[in-house]
Amino acid sequence: MNAQQKDTVNVLAHGTEPNGGAPTLGKDDILSIQLIAFNEIFEVAFFTDLLFNVTNNVQGFEIADPTERNKVINALVAIQAQEELHADNANAILSANNVAPIQACKYQFPTTDLMHALALASTFTDVVLGTLQDVQFHLATNGAAGVVPIIGSVIGQEGEQNGFFRNYNDQIPSAKPFLTRSTREFAFSALNQNFVVPGSCPNSNTIDLPVFQTLNLVTPGPIQPINQQLTFSVHADKPTQPSGTALVFINGQNTPIVTTVVNPQNNNGEVTFEGNFPYVANVMDGLTIAVLVNSTDNLNSAEDVAKVTIAGPALIEVN
Ligand SMILES: *[C@@H]1O[C@H](CO)[C@@H](O)[C@H](O)[C@H]1NC(C)=O
Ligand SMILES: *[C@@H]1O[C@H](CO)[C@@H](O)[C@H](O)[C@H]1NC(C)=O
Repeated sequence: MNAQQKDTVNVLAHGTEPNGGAPTLGKDDILSIQLIAFNEIFEVAFFTDLLFNVTNNVQGFEIADPTERNKVINALVAIQAQEELHADNANAILSANNVAPIQACKYQFPTTDLMHALALASTFTDVVLGTLQDVQFHLATNGAAGVVPIIGSVIGQEGEQNGFFRNYNDQIPSAKPFLTRSTREFAFSALNQNFVVPGSCPNSNTIDLPVFQTLNLVTPGPIQPINQQLTFSVHADKPTQPSGTALVFINGQNTPIVTTVVNPQNNNGEVTFEGNFPYVANVMDGLTIAVLVNSTDNLNSAEDVAKVTIAGPALIEVN
């Protein structure tokens, strides 16, 4: 963005990037900013495409009521511009720290109508809201307190967006009292597994985070607010199940729920299995992150879970 482009985006975004000068960060927090850039650039692509679809009345994205249509377009114009500033700011921090800015990949979006597109936006925003908690955790652990408020301002901002996405789809704006924790590893994996065209990223290999194997949620949505066995599938690279394999659910700020892999069936390298989703005892509304782990020792936090994850995250939404 040149200065003139930025002036235009600032107006559309209803504000500017922080103007206090970029922080100097250590390696671990640089990794967080690289991930934020990677995610925000994806979000810019998604909302640019969505705004195009709504503005041009693409089939599935038409809004009949002119007042409602204006409201949605106004919101999407602001969100698209705000995401551009989030992405630009993250890359500016990388540049100021002599780290190569993250470049855009090619993306594929699975949605072909407005309702599903906003539901998807709500899900990936839930992952971001959880992941920025992780970014704050790392900043605080590394003694980089100065950046914590800026990340906090973005968490609130993305939460406001999510209230709009949820409200449009007739859900209550705020999903639950304490939003679901995620980690940098889960966010990077989810973005790569769900949206990135494989091999299309110029420099995402500079982001030192794993991309886990994909864990598919086979049970069709919407997932009901009841105790139930959910069905998952995963590609198996070994003929037998590795010992210690378990399914873990992360919801809210509660300690991870560890459960057994039930009835695994291997069909030509694709393993289907079930897992007990204990909705009632934990009131698991909003996002639940499900992953397969290879060890269940001392899984007290999302960080602990990420260290032993072999596949995931499957993203489960109960609304
Ligand atoms: C925009 O519409 C096209 C055509 O239906 C679709 O393929 C694409 O996924 C849509 N974009 C979003 C963000 O939903
Ligand atoms: C378990 O998974 C972690 C993370 O993928 C990996 O580093 C570790 O080597 C695995 N351990 C075993 C025993 O397979």
